[in-house]
Amino acid sequence: MIDLPQTLPPIGIGEEAALALLGGAAMDRRADLAAPDVLAHMDPPSAEVAARMAYLVAQANQNLLHPATSPFATQAEALVLGWIVPTYGMAWGQFCSGSTLANLTALWAAREAGARKVVASAEAHISVPKAARILGMDYHAVPVGEEGKLIRDALPDLADAALVLTAGTTGRGAIDELSPLPAKWLHVDAAWAGPLQFTKYRDRLAGIAAADSIAISAHKWFFQPKGAALALFRNVDAKALITFTSSYLARPNSGVEGTRSAAALPLLATLLAWGQAGLAERIERCMAIAEDLAQRLDADPRTEVKQAPESGVLNWRPVQADPAAVIAALEGTSSAFTIGEGLWVRQVAANPHAEVDAIWSRIDAALAMGTAP
Ligand SMILES: Cc1ncc(COP(=O)(O)O)c(C=O)c1O
Repeated sequence: MIDLPQTLPPIGIGEEAALALLGGAAMDRRADLAAPDVLAHMDPPSAEVAARMAYLVAQANQNLLHPATSPFATQAEALVLGWIVPTYGMAWGQFCSGSTLANLTALWAAREAGARKVVASAEAHISVPKAARILGMDYHAVPVGEEGKLIRDALPDLADAALVLTAGTTGRGAIDELSPLPAKWLHVDAAWAGPLQFTKYRDRLAGIAAADSIAISAHKWFFQPKGAALALFRNVDAKALITFTSSYLARPNSGVEGTRSAAALPLLATLLAWGQAGLAERIERCMAIAEDLAQRLDADPRTEVKQAPESGVLNWRPVQADPAAVIAALEGTSSAFTIGEGLWVRQVAANPHAEVDAIWSRIDAALAMGTAP
């Protein structure tokens, strides 16, 4: 650890000294998300253009709550939403600081529209039961099938339900069948796999346009710095359900958050720089990495693959070695996921700079360590 005071210093060391001390540590001692052998969590490295734009955003420090004090940022937010929202067949959307908030915002609208309970698969993200608890709604978890998708035949009566389907589950990347069901409100948690809509894999999201609301994390496969997600809605009338006004506000405040940063600007800069083709290329590279690794793992007698990766999330385990030992040996490039009683290695192709050979060398070494006498 660097030498830092353990209590608030009465007199500061100066801005340059503080930056030299902390900036150095923050960069030198980070986990490098763009390293060629890293494939751990759902945390892509930031696009360079987004990181540089985010620095300007922090300097200008505009509050999107007040259009008069954020003139360009407000326009930029409307513009980038206008690029993204129709791609999903939605009518309007808003930025949130993460998909936990986007799910909560959408389910709040669902409750105001008359939904009384939340129904989701047993492998839905924890933010879904969390939102139900916050909103005082009952929560019903539906079992999943072999591939981690919600079993439709096991659904309860949905007449008073907000049904949450997941496009890219956290543990397995499974995409629930998205065709409509007779629920009071249909929400798609597309925090992870939502950006597939801009790629050659968009068929995997078929049916998403029938949702009443969609959550997408921009800090995942839109390669944005942390703190950026989108809540999208099919019907403009939903906005009134989650909007408050006050005499001090020139514009009503919609959604859970009040003060909102100009997170739209780094996203606008990224999409302007890359275009749809550049975004698709990076996501498709991630998908290809997961598919290639799945094939190698499937062909290797030392390992078994749980299911073909549907949205870049791999689950595999050693046939003979102890999975926990292999996961420990892969620290920094894998995580763990429990399916039933079994422990599986989880690797997420969030890093477009990863190289299959580099990842494979680490897997190979971990398997050798895990089977060592
Ligand atoms: C499927 C899914 N939904 C929601 C979330 C929550 O998103 P955030 O971490 O942006 O709040 C995650 C996070 O990994 C997720 O995987």
